[in-house]
Amino acid sequence: MSKPNFAPLKLFITGPTYIRDDVKEAALLPEFGHRDAENELRFGPIREHLHTLAGAGDKYESVLFLGSGSTAMEGSIRSLVAEDETLLNVSVGAFGDQYYNIAIANGKKTENLKFDYGQAIDLDVLERKLVDLKPDVVSFTHNETSTGVTNDMKAVCALIRRHGAMPLVDGVSIFGGADLDLANSGAAMYVTATQKSLALPAGFGIGFVSREAEEKAGKVTNKGFSSDIIRQLERARKNQTLTTPNCTLANQMYVQLDRIVNEEGIQNRFDRHIEMRTMVEKWVAGLDGFEMFAPKGFRSPTMSTVVCPEGVTLTQLKVGVKEALRAKGYLMDPGYVKLNLAMEKAGRRQVFRIGHMGDIMPDMLSEYLVQLENELKKI
Ligand SMILES: Cc1ncc(COP(=O)(O)O)c(C=O)c1O
Repeated sequence: MSKPNFAPLKLFITGPTYIRDDVKEAALLPEFGHRDAENELRFGPIREHLHTLAGAGDKYESVLFLGSGSTAMEGSIRSLVAEDETLLNVSVGAFGDQYYNIAIANGKKTENLKFDYGQAIDLDVLERKLVDLKPDVVSFTHNETSTGVTNDMKAVCALIRRHGAMPLVDGVSIFGGADLDLANSGAAMYVTATQKSLALPAGFGIGFVSREAEEKAGKVTNKGFSSDIIRQLERARKNQTLTTPNCTLANQMYVQLDRIVNEEGIQNRFDRHIEMRTMVEKWVAGLDGFEMFAPKGFRSPTMSTVVCPEGVTLTQLKVGVKEALRAKGYLMDPGYVKLNLAMEKAGRRQVFRIGHMGDIMPDMLSEYLVQLENELKKI
């Protein structure tokens, strides 16, 4: 078996993403005991900064699950969908199905309302389903990573609430790259992860739990152990994790969140993501035969999806363009395979992705777009 090629690559995929050198170096900070006073000095500021980044006000508590985004999603399902209740999942792409799959794997009574790839949630269609099904809980994706579509979180949550259900939101690929205003979002629980717009290694699923969710979880039975948000909250309130955390990641997270909040500034960070989305839109407008995939008004600030001209194949993207860019030091994203296979089957054009999340800077993106354009012109 050949060995990994450890040559440095700049990741323009949609997570995990590029990590700054100072954040990599923070992995060398001393390990610590997770029930020792040193733990508080890391996780206290980490939780405070997460709160600020989310705009969580006084309605939410953050919990760090050991695992990834899916671990936090599972926690929300196990803790907030009671045995006799119905969950409606709303999916606008491949990642939108994740909540559905988790709910089914946990034996929950669940339906999946699916929208076509590239579309945002249609509120009229959702409303009809809410009237028909009368679900107790509704889950949906804030930012669909396979299509680059950002749903209007507040509008979707408001509609769900008008029908008496509790909204759970998967914000894995947007948190840290956009202003959520979580306090006014209407989400009962919002989940995310470290390896996307926070530009950290993977390792923690992050859950923002509202008081209302906590109250409900108190009445739900069979919540599991790590997936029990009540058990998690008890530790989180002491700025601790339920079980032994990855201390290396905690050190990196401490350094990274301090830098984001106190050096870069969160508004600057959010503005930088919008600037990069605009850069991609302008670049695409200048490319013959290419178009943005996500509809205007629903385009993600953390990643973009681009439709190729007729005749471009997945192999050309995956082998030709991606491997040529790897040789130049970039990891290109040729698109979500399941989506591209479905697009091909439906006679639709192929779509590739550009991750511009986390600590990707406009000058890095502009350099990458030049290289990407050179390779696209060869196919
Ligand atoms: C929107 C979305 N939800 C959920 C997940 C799953 O997250 P994780 O891999 O952190 O468990 C991903 C991963 O890419 C995602 O993009």
